[in-house]
Amino acid sequence: TVQQFSNIDETRHWCLQQRRQNRTIGLVPTMGALHEGHLALMRRAKRECDLCIATIFVNPTQFAAGEDLTRYPRPLQRDLELLERENVDAVFLPDESMMYPSGFGTYVSPPPVALPLEGESRPEHFRGVTTVVMKLFQIAQADRAFFGQKDFQQLRVIEDMTRDLNVPIEIIRCDIVRESDGLAMSSRNRYLNDEQRQRALSLSRALTAAKNLNQSGERDIATIEAVMKAELAVCDHVDYAVVVNRTTLLPPTDSITRPNESIALVAARIGNTRLIDNELL
Ligand code: PAJ
Repeated sequence: TVQQFSNIDETRHWCLQQRRQNRTIGLVPTMGALHEGHLALMRRAKRECDLCIATIFVNPTQFAAGEDLTRYPRPLQRDLELLERENVDAVFLPDESMMYPSGFGTYVSPPPVALPLEGESRPEHFRGVTTVVMKLFQIAQADRAFFGQKDFQQLRVIEDMTRDLNVPIEIIRCDIVRESDGLAMSSRNRYLNDEQRQRALSLSRALTAAKNLNQSGERDIATIEAVMKAELAVCDHVDYAVVVNRTTLLPPTDSITRPNESIALVAARIGNTRLIDNELL
């Protein structure tokens, strides 16, 4: 059965004990409301490490005022059942006062790759992410940490933070898991009604269109972006629909010059639900 820890010292002690016995640990940070995307990370961690530790914490510092912090789904019993079923070895479930006790005041300033895209739409978001992920790295000291490419910019931010601050952990990129109709799995999909769920398919359709155009030889970024925006016209608001360099997340030139250097990313709102998705080109 999965070991449950709500305490920082107990979690750190368990990880150190395991590593002292030469067992490798894979860490999977989440905010819960687990779905197949999360479970794929845990399966990969189990495959590539001796033990898997997950964390479930809806991190308040990465939500801005007016975002969905208070209504974020927290189906704890179901999450625990899924962790059991996946044979996850341990889970760290802190409460807010454990992670942010009174007097807390140190934050990790995110690297430049945090500035465009999500950084423009959600200016404080990545500071909350880098801070909580650095804390989780210090608490659940693992050999590898597994993150989904669904949140591609988050992954790039964490990669650069880990490199810049010499954190002794290996960051593993994991593929996006999709529903059979293409919708990228997300805890936020459960906010969508049937009609909104249909319109949400425009995100993956826009990205498939971008990939197909690129594969058939289209190299002009403005042309690809226009096709994505046309697909996303059914959304209530489009934050961005861009093709950028997949390392810097900045616009390269006006055209794609090399294979495997670009990525298409979209962010759009349907009703009050903000969705993101991406596809490597
Ligand atoms: P959360 O949204 O719960 O996602 C946890 C991890 O699951 C992230 O690495 C995310 O990229 C991955 N993930 C989500 N949906 C996925 C999908 N459809 N396919 C593959 N991977 C997917 O991201 C966060 O939580 C938080 O920002 C966190 C890193 C835990 C810090 O609070």
